[in-house]
Amino acid sequence: MSQRKILITSALPYANGPIHLGHLLEYIQTDIWSRFQKARGHECYYVCADDAHGTPIMLKAQQQGIAPEQMIAQTKIEHEADFAGFAIGFDNYYSTHSEENREFASLIYQRLDQAGYIKRKTISQLYDPQKNMFLPDRFVKGDCPKCGALDQNGDSCDVCGATYSPTDVKNPRSVVSGATPVLKDSEHYFFDLPAFSQMLQDWTRSGALQEEMANKLQEWFTDGLQMWDISRDAPYFGFEIPGAPGKFFYVWLDAPIGYLASFKNYCDTNNIDFDSFWQPDSNAEVYHFIGKDIIYFHSLFWPAMLEGAGFRKPNAVYAHGFVTVNGAKMSKSRGTFIKARSYLDNLNPEYLRYYFASKLTSGITDLDLNLDDFTQKVNADLVGKVVNIASRCAGFISKRFDGKLSATVAEPALLKEFVAAGNSIADSFEKREFARAIRDIMALADKANQYIDNKAPWVLVKDDARQQEAHDVCSMGLNLFRVLMHYLKPVLPVMAGDVEAFLNTELSWQNYQTPLVNHAINPFKALMQRVDPAKVAAMVEASTDNLQATPQTQVPAGAKQAKTTEKSAAPAGREPISDTISIEDFAKIDLRVAKIVSASAVEGADKLVQLQLDIGNGETRQVFAGIKAAYTPEDLVGRSTVMVANLAPRKMRFGLSEGMVLAAGPGGGDLFILSPDDGALPGMRVK
Ligand code: 2FM
Ligand code: ZN
Repeated sequence: MSQRKILITSALPYANGPIHLGHLLEYIQTDIWSRFQKARGHECYYVCADDAHGTPIMLKAQQQGIAPEQMIAQTKIEHEADFAGFAIGFDNYYSTHSEENREFASLIYQRLDQAGYIKRKTISQLYDPQKNMFLPDRFVKGDCPKCGALDQNGDSCDVCGATYSPTDVKNPRSVVSGATPVLKDSEHYFFDLPAFSQMLQDWTRSGALQEEMANKLQEWFTDGLQMWDISRDAPYFGFEIPGAPGKFFYVWLDAPIGYLASFKNYCDTNNIDFDSFWQPDSNAEVYHFIGKDIIYFHSLFWPAMLEGAGFRKPNAVYAHGFVTVNGAKMSKSRGTFIKARSYLDNLNPEYLRYYFASKLTSGITDLDLNLDDFTQKVNADLVGKVVNIASRCAGFISKRFDGKLSATVAEPALLKEFVAAGNSIADSFEKREFARAIRDIMALADKANQYIDNKAPWVLVKDDARQQEAHDVCSMGLNLFRVLMHYLKPVLPVMAGDVEAFLNTELSWQNYQTPLVNHAINPFKALMQRVDPAKVAAMVEASTDNLQATPQTQVPAGAKQAKTTEKSAAPAGREPISDTISIEDFAKIDLRVAKIVSASAVEGADKLVQLQLDIGNGETRQVFAGIKAAYTPEDLVGRSTVMVANLAPRKMRFGLSEGMVLAAGPGGGDLFILSPDDGALPGMRVK
């Protein structure tokens, strides 16, 4: 087996949110592959980074009142801790907001520009006159130009499914400030993707993509490739384009360049020849693992940029499907939007590594994490089969045979079969057919257990005349266990480490064929606990809580907390759920985040509080709310709540009421105003 030079990457997670189980499928898949390649003796590096640029990151930092640099630094610490928790063995974890990345982005841009692949064109886009910024599509909302549904995204309608340009949206509104956007011209820089059409078609069919992905690309080629807009105007968190003050590289331009930057940073500190991996005639191999949703960037823009700038292209881009939990999209309300941290707080990370591996193929179909199946499979396979082999043999070796394996291999043919399976198991790992590898390993585990069942060493040890046989059987069992754990090492690196300590040997492709004979081992310690269903439930519970509004941070002067405590003494009454309504009916109710700017008692009305509500875009509403028995008006000032903004105004004895504030509870003193989570701004639509 000749030594290969391999560089592996996973997609760079955005630096404005936590790692969750959807992300982890990819990092676990890549990490298993990378650990496998390293174990085979190849010169292999696995790098990644945070994807730190772009408008959402800029705005989130603004909302938090901190500099984006501070926010991305904090997120990077959290991401790295989560990855370490799952034993993701990056050789380098970096950031796209780095000097190396600035240099590579500039270099690639300049080379593309010199070669004539950058075009300049003035385009007209929606602009927020209050925030003085151009609005990306997702920061424009308005009514669907096709079906009229209120408050749809700037580029698509959730109600009728139409897609459109943000300039076609009716009653457009900036999500950032609530202002009505205006059209404004600006010069943009475009990358000439169509110039690479032929090269990309050839590359696509060169084996660089999975077949499903190559077919998808064929549709795009047939439709014709478009010029790609790579510039964004200030304000923008990113790298300024050389020679173009006030213009920045679009985040997706410098994100994949982050692969180069992270690797360069690693090479520089570890004396590795970067160019030998990235020059056009390189004999190194480069692989990107990604989700199928970002194939466009990785199989069109990225290879074209590399080609145009004089770098080599990746050998392959490997896409995977999405994670579903219990058969459905991860959902915050169901508690199945599970953050890495919530998982780690409750469960052993290797359970998940194993479960994902047992279901991963080289294809792009979605992977369902069924939590009952997860519990059952981990318990049956890892605890019930694999660990069981060792736990049934180890005690006797320590207690009766002086901690030493016997001098003979009791069943050479069986051991030979286990060793011989290594070729096809390695082939499955190589081809990313992890499910097949796991199936084969578990079939061997069954055989090992059958062997032990048949020989029943617990019976043999009781017979003085059969001590040697007992010793040989237990030693044989542990040799079989060793081969299996060697195969599982890329999947279960932590447990494999514990097994190495226990067996007093390194699990490796160099030595696994040679059995351990006359070999001293260490006392056996429990290698893995069974999955506790209560812990799984606790994780789901914690994930549900994660996403509830946090009233403590919203409510001044303890008003709500005091009331909540009071109320918790009695069981909460719950009204029956009303008849269903259509989504169109629901879309008619315009719920908005509103900030209470003033609140006062109403002369002559015992139950009412007069509220002035800021609903964004400089608009205030007066609402009379029947919440006096539940709240002291002054305590409400400064709170955010939710109002029905399109309720027809009602003329009341005390004045006009222009909407309704939402509160829960039976009424009287038992009413609780709804509070949005931190970050919701006045005027944001509630859906
Ligand atoms: O989709 C995403 O989460 C992106 N942050 C992935 C970037 S991968 C690479 F191109 F940087
Ligand atoms: Zn519509």
